[in-house]
Formats: sequence, C-alpha cells, structure tokens
Amino acid sequence: MSTPISNTTLSHANLSNMQARDMASLLHPFTNLLTLRQTGPLVLERGKGVFVYDGAGKDYLEAMGGLWCTALGWGEEELVQAAAEQMRKLPFAHIFGGKSHEPGIGLAEKLKEMAPFPVGKVFFANSGSEANDSQIKFMWYAANARGQKNRKKIIARSRAYHGVTLASASLTGLDAFHKSFDLPFDFTVRVECPHYYRGAEPGESEEDYSARLARNLDAAIQREGPDTIAAMFVEAVMGAGGAMVPPRGYFEAITAVLDKYGILLVDDEVICGFGRTGNAFGCQTYNYQPDSMSIAKALSSAYMPISAVLLSPELVEIIEEEAVRIGGLWHAFTYSAHPVAAAVALKTLEIYQRRDTFGHVRKVAPHFQARLKALESHPLVGEANGVGLIGAIEMVADKKSKKNFEAAKGVGTKCGQICQEEGIIVRPLLNDRIALCPPLVISEAEIDELFDRFTRALDRTLDWARRETLI
Ligand SMILES: Cc1ncc(COP(=O)(O)O)c(C=O)c1O
Repeated sequence: MSTPISNTTLSHANLSNMQARDMASLLHPFTNLLTLRQTGPLVLERGKGVFVYDGAGKDYLEAMGGLWCTALGWGEEELVQAAAEQMRKLPFAHIFGGKSHEPGIGLAEKLKEMAPFPVGKVFFANSGSEANDSQIKFMWYAANARGQKNRKKIIARSRAYHGVTLASASLTGLDAFHKSFDLPFDFTVRVECPHYYRGAEPGESEEDYSARLARNLDAAIQREGPDTIAAMFVEAVMGAGGAMVPPRGYFEAITAVLDKYGILLVDDEVICGFGRTGNAFGCQTYNYQPDSMSIAKALSSAYMPISAVLLSPELVEIIEEEAVRIGGLWHAFTYSAHPVAAAVALKTLEIYQRRDTFGHVRKVAPHFQARLKALESHPLVGEANGVGLIGAIEMVADKKSKKNFEAAKGVGTKCGQICQEEGIIVRPLLNDRIALCPPLVISEAEIDELFDRFTRALDRTLDWARRETLI
C-alpha cells in the first residue's frame, strides 16, 4: 500500500512565502504530490519571448510553450491591446437565444476561411476537453438524426490524449486518466497507437507497419460491428501520450478503412493546429481530410481560454435539422464565443498571417529537428524524433534492446527536475519520454540555447542514473 499523503514528512523550512501559500491552498493536477511536498512548486512571475522568470529573477527557456500552447511566446503586446479594447467595448455577450456579436462572427468566418477542409459552421467552447466532449455529443446527435441509433461507439487510440472531461477522458488512452475515476465509458473502442520505434516488428518498414495497423483497425471495426461506430478521433502527432509522429503512410491507410465503413474522422488539432507541424494544420502535414476538427491552445496563443469545433457542411445540416425538429440545439457554454477570447483569437490569427509565423516554423524547424536528432547519440536516448517544432526523446536503460527503465525509478521526472535547475522547462511523459514544444516564435539562436541547456540536463541525468546503478 502506498504511504498516505498525510503521513509524509513535510520539509517546509526552505519554502518561500509564495510556495507555502500555494501548498496550503492549490490542488495541483498532473503533479507527483509527494515530491511536491518536498520541493514546493516553481512559482513563475513573468515572461518575455520564449523565457519565463521566477520570483528570484532566474530565467527558464519555456521549451513546452506552457502546455503546448503559447505559440507567440510571452509579452505579446498586441494581444494585450486586443483584450483591453474588447473589454472596454463589450466585455461579455452570449450567443444564446439568437444573440450575437462581432468578435464571435469574425472569428467563425476567419476559421472557415483558414480550415483545410470544407466547414459549414463553427461551434465555440473554452477548452480542448469541452471541444472534444461537444464533438462526441454532435456525433451522437447526428447519428440519432439519421435514424442510426446504434452508431454511438467512438474509436480512439492507446496513448491518445483528448482531454479530461468524462467523455473526452474516456477517449484519452492513458490509464492514469481512468484510474479511480470509473473511466473509460464503454462507448470507447481502443486501437493501437502508431509508434514505429516501439510498435514495429524487426525489419518492418514504416509503410508495412502502417498497413498492419490499418488491418488491425479494420478487424476491430468488424469485431464491434461497423454500423455501431460513429467516428474515430485522431491527433496528427500524438501529444501528451508521448509526442510521437505517425509512421509513413499511416493516415492514408487508416482513412481508407474508415471511408469503407462510413465512419467519420474527428481531427483533434488542439496541439497541432496553427503551425506546430510547419503547416497551418497537422492534417495538411500528414495529408488527410477530416469531417470535423477540434482546435484550442494556439488559437489564442493561450492568452485567453477558447476552443472551437469546425464541422463539415453535412454535419451542420443534419445537426440544424435535428435542432429544428426538437426545438433547439441544447448544447453550449455560458462562455461559448466569449467576445474577449474571440477578439484575442482573431488578433492571434491576424498576427500569424501578417508575420508569416507558420513560414518561420518551416524555416527554423530543420535546425530544431537536426539538434533533436543529434541527441540519439546520447547514451540515455533511445529515440529522438519530431516534426516542425514538436518532438520528444525517449530515455532507455538499454539502447540496443530498447528496454525502458522501471517506471518506479522516475527517470523522466528526475530529468524534468534537472532541466528546471538548468533553466529549461520540458514535459516528462509516459515511458521516460521528454517532450519539447517551444513557442513558434523561437529563433535559431534560442533553439541552440534550448538544446545546450537540455543536453547539460541529460548529461546530469545520466550521471545520476549511473550513481543509482540504473544504467
Ligand atoms: C490533443 C489534445 N486534445 C485535447 C486536449 C484537452 O485540452 P484542455 O486541457 O484545454 O481541456 C489537449 C490538452 O493538452 C490535447 O493535447
């Protein structure tokens, strides 16, 4: 049995006043609470560009863009202005009961224009999880409207991350998000995660691996009954599950299977949307066409909480017909299309276009990817891979056999702590993977600084692992 948290020894003597206030009041998510009680939280005070600073003035290169989201970096004055102007003019208005406002309309129009697939209308929410829950409800609503009452199952992949609300967490394919929460709900059909480094058979090409995954998907659909499945959710690059790029031919192979059975493809672009992979959307980088899309995070460069669901004209038509039939579309949030969030998102999209932010990503990505790939020669690193300005390394106990460290040894977490000491913020993920996802505005010199700091941290993690006789 694990130690009850109330029995752990607290060492608060060295905590700052702010840390002590945090520990007495904030419930910390995605955190090892036992470790936190020993170390206290990192309390950030301000940010500029790709750096954030703590109360003592120490700088950290934010190599995760916050949570894969602060695309324009910190201190973007135009976004501050956009928020302030909208707050003065119309700080709140909703879109219930036939009301509307200009920022909401303008943002919906802009997203329709930018979308890489035909979009009928846009639905707004506040977070990626809410967008994905809305997607699931829309899929069920559309199935009911079509008289396909059994088409309610949703396919999602192991190690997928689609959020934490009840339905989106059910699609999330990571055990930690289900344990003790009585999840996942049983509408979820789980299929394999496409990770060539771990999943391919010896000697299997990327294309053959993709074809095998598509055959397995086909078999899963047959097993469940094709007419019981509404949709499949995908991320172009799997984010929180490990920052893993798909193998060559993967999306071509799986979309052919979905098309065969009339199963809709929901594209979760919450991380990949808006330039992360070098194109506006991840589905453009990997050449597939969804029926609907979830976006959030970089939509407003994370300066305001806002997310959206982009729906194909066919889905909009069927949803609106059903809403007319039953007397309304009874699904939205108080803050759907919040005018301040919408104004900030519109300004963000304007900046991306005016400054050619996605072009900048294409320009600096080869340098980022080359420095990332070079880490594969480090004694701790089994895989180093990515696309655009996203990537990850996987640390292994034995490079040849690809053997992972025991999870209980906490190698990834240790590396994350050392990174912090070295002035770089990264994200440790499952299987001792460390994700990198810096602001899109990062320069080549800052990319060098990122990898210099990261390499120092990896060297120190290696020294520690050797002292602990883990390697
Ligand atoms: C791909 C993806 N979908 C959905 C979500 C959930 O978004 P949120 O945390 O805003 O609810 C995330 C969050 O990281 C994500 O990465």
